[in-house]
Amino acid sequence: MKVIIDSSKNIASRAADLYEEVLNRKPDAVLGFATGSTPLELYAELIARVQNKRISFQNVTTFNLDEYVGLEPTHNQSYRYFMDHNLFQSIDLDPAKVHIPSGLKIGQEELDAYEAAIAACGGIDMQLLGIGRNGHIGFNEPGTPFGALTHKVRLTESTIEANSRFFATKDEVPKEAVTMGIRTVMNARRLILIALGDSKAEIVAKTVNGPVTEEVPASVLQLHPDAYIFADEEAAKYL
Ligand code: GLP
Repeated sequence: MKVIIDSSKNIASRAADLYEEVLNRKPDAVLGFATGSTPLELYAELIARVQNKRISFQNVTTFNLDEYVGLEPTHNQSYRYFMDHNLFQSIDLDPAKVHIPSGLKIGQEELDAYEAAIAACGGIDMQLLGIGRNGHIGFNEPGTPFGALTHKVRLTESTIEANSRFFATKDEVPKEAVTMGIRTVMNARRLILIALGDSKAEIVAKTVNGPVTEEVPASVLQLHPDAYIFADEEAAKYL
């Protein structure tokens, strides 16, 4: 793992450099995106670079990590809505090349179709990740087998609690989600995990220096041949 400690502003720009490098090399790259507050600065930087004509997403295909079960794409807390508003609407991406798991059609057929769509595009070139306070990546909660592909999950109490800040009441937070599995994530040719702030410090230390264990899903990145972990000073304080 390549661990990089820097300010959140510099992380956004250094991670954007990785996008620029991939897009220069492969304009039709397959990119995996993530939601949460963590990637917002990076997304703003990518939008700025599109506006400055430094990069283009015209030929890019995207796959998102996850989606809540039961939320309409128009729901303002759905991950579809998040991506549209924080990135996709502001870049030159072809909407037909955007893939986000459906939170409404969640049968095995749809889950398998998501994996098949990734494979049909030749796999993901670069997958962005945030990290949950319990070490989840996507919505792969502790205990998820490393071999899992795209699947439906029950969210843990701690994740529901952490994500309730975005909903009017905790009761409104969906209890289930659809997520790429750990294996889906690990199949990506390059991984970029960003961790910001104090609340991620303990889990970042376990991810980087702890044993590789299904109890800390992000620890699996230690086994990836091309994984970057970007942490700000607060998130890196126990490294
Ligand atoms: C959600 C998402 C994760 C994300 C995590 C952290 O649970 N499913 O993909 O990494 O939140 O969110 P934040 O970046 O807001 O801390």
